[in-house]
Amino acid sequence: ALSVLIVAFALLAPGGHAAGEPWHVCGDSGEYDDKSVYQANLNLVAAALPKNASASPNLFATAEAGAVPEKVTALALCRGDANSRACSSCLANAFANLPNVCPGFKEAVIYYDACMLRYSDVQFLSADDSGPLGVELTYTVRNDANATSEPGRYQRAVATLMNATADYAAYNSTRRYATGQADLDREFPKVYSWAQCTPDLTPGRCRDCLAQLIAQLPVQFTDSIGGRLLGPRCSFEYETKPFINGPVIVQLPATSASSGAPAPAVVPTPPASATAEGRKYSVPGMVLIILLPMIAAINLVAWLFSWRRRQVLRKAKQPDPNYSTDEAEGMESVESMLIDISTLRAATEDFAESNKLGEGGFGPVYKGTLLSGDEIAVKRLSKSSTQGVEELKNELALVAKLKHKNLVRLIGICLEQQERLLIYEFIPNRSLDLILFDEEKRQKLDWETRYKIINGVARGLQYLHEDSQLKVVHRDLKASNVLLDMNMNPKISDFGLAKIFGRDQTQGVTNRVVGTYGYMAPEYVMRGNYSVKSDVFSFGVLVLEIVMGRKNSDCYNSHQSQDLLTTVRACYLNM
Ligand SMILES: *[C@@H]1O[C@H](CO)[C@@H](O)[C@H](O)[C@H]1NC(C)=O
Ligand SMILES: *[C@@H]1O[C@H](CO)[C@@H](O)[C@H](O)[C@H]1NC(C)=O
Ligand SMILES: *[C@@H]1O[C@H](CO)[C@@H](O)[C@H](O)[C@H]1NC(C)=O
Ligand SMILES: *[C@@H]1O[C@H](CO)[C@@H](O)[C@H](O)[C@H]1NC(C)=O
Repeated sequence: ALSVLIVAFALLAPGGHAAGEPWHVCGDSGEYDDKSVYQANLNLVAAALPKNASASPNLFATAEAGAVPEKVTALALCRGDANSRACSSCLANAFANLPNVCPGFKEAVIYYDACMLRYSDVQFLSADDSGPLGVELTYTVRNDANATSEPGRYQRAVATLMNATADYAAYNSTRRYATGQADLDREFPKVYSWAQCTPDLTPGRCRDCLAQLIAQLPVQFTDSIGGRLLGPRCSFEYETKPFINGPVIVQLPATSASSGAPAPAVVPTPPASATAEGRKYSVPGMVLIILLPMIAAINLVAWLFSWRRRQVLRKAKQPDPNYSTDEAEGMESVESMLIDISTLRAATEDFAESNKLGEGGFGPVYKGTLLSGDEIAVKRLSKSSTQGVEELKNELALVAKLKHKNLVRLIGICLEQQERLLIYEFIPNRSLDLILFDEEKRQKLDWETRYKIINGVARGLQYLHEDSQLKVVHRDLKASNVLLDMNMNPKISDFGLAKIFGRDQTQGVTNRVVGTYGYMAPEYVMRGNYSVKSDVFSFGVLVLEIVMGRKNSDCYNSHQSQDLLTTVRACYLNM
């Protein structure tokens, strides 16, 4: 009996296959607090949506509550192979978890294996199917377990399979759901796929949505044998092992998959009726009558087991080595980032003046050496911050998720004894301004190096603006916030902090301008309006500085009566 239970448990435990879940994206449309109307509206939605979604034949529901600006719009969808019970418990979990992982964010999305949930103050639903697809809220999970020896060919085969799966989901399934499989070669004999849109999208919109994601294959998954892009309106996944609890719908023959032929034959198995894909069993009635109560009983026991197991898992969650951990959830990782103050005092010789690297926008920075010999930079934030420790931790956990080769990495934090310390990787060549604006050191910067620096800063900025999960406006990009590593590769520092320390902000307007005169866009200086465009303005000033080797405001230099922008503008007008 025990083995039956164990088998039943393995089959029925919800969301078995990837330990990385759930994944979340917090939007930047605004914030709410615990006692707000928004919270009350959210509770209304949470009470109805899991039931409504799991009861609907396509496992999908939307809900709205309240009035603008505190109106909550929400959407819930379970993966097409989930059963109603798994769907409902997954969504209940999602509602319980999402406010914790995106505390106070009005816009938030959470993705599990079996379901996804989005709530927002943005009214993204529209009757005529023209609402935004929310592609910016997409989450990327890569499976980099094994590289392929021929990434190009593998990618083409995967793209062909994904295209066929997306076609079926969009045009042949009213649930907008499809799974697929292709035979490849000896290295990876089989690839499995899944694609799904929210069923309210028209076939054309669904296919567009999936096409945008599939276009990311050669960009984000070049070395991945598997992966998924999870979006609020459409998602896909491909793996070398089966991961769907249901039949393969689209089967690609070996030749068309591996040659990347443009129009593969789609062989659906079985000829699925759209609402009951693969749920037909021809078991005689009597057996069913005996079996059903047994299954129900086993189900209940298994559910209790899995509930226990999840309680335990929640306490000791291990990152799955098969999935790249660079997007590990903030909440668990923030605890591991805490470094105690005694370690930091020892590393910096109690913040000795001789170890001071400089004075940044948010406080002094010290160099430290850990017992292991690793060098670190410790930013000691000025004590003006009025935020609570928990709130600050949550914000910093989000900043720590921003990882890119052109960003300085945040490796730890310390919030003890009234101190607010941020620990960064140490970057040996210090900041760009120390080299660029020094007559002698500037000689080190040949054109190639300057080009490399400009290019790297642009890449870092693009990541912050477009490719990261968070969408960060830096708000204080300048030469002293660009650090240079041993090979003169640039790394942007101080990103993500403006949001934390210039908090009184709604919809990109702040009454506390965080920035440096000379780099700030006029509308930001005058009205406090900022957006990615203000960063682009600062980037433009920085490029001019790098090219000209001159500070944007050189007031000490008597023979340069004009500031940099005026000089350049005069040249431009005279062209
Ligand atoms: C859930 O479904 C019921 C019945 O269809 C409907 O009356 C109710 O408004 C739905 N709830 C939400 C929050 O949409
Ligand atoms: C990776 O490759 C090894 C050896 O070829 C194989 O045993 C293992 O199953 C592969 N892992 C995955 C996830 O495909
Ligand atoms: C997949 O479809 C897109 C258009 O939706 C097309 O541009 C691309 O070439 C297709 N890829 C393959 C491998 O067929
Ligand atoms: C899917 O739908 C398209 C257009 O509606 C049709 O031409 C095609 O035969 C269908 N494919 C399958 C496998 O049913």
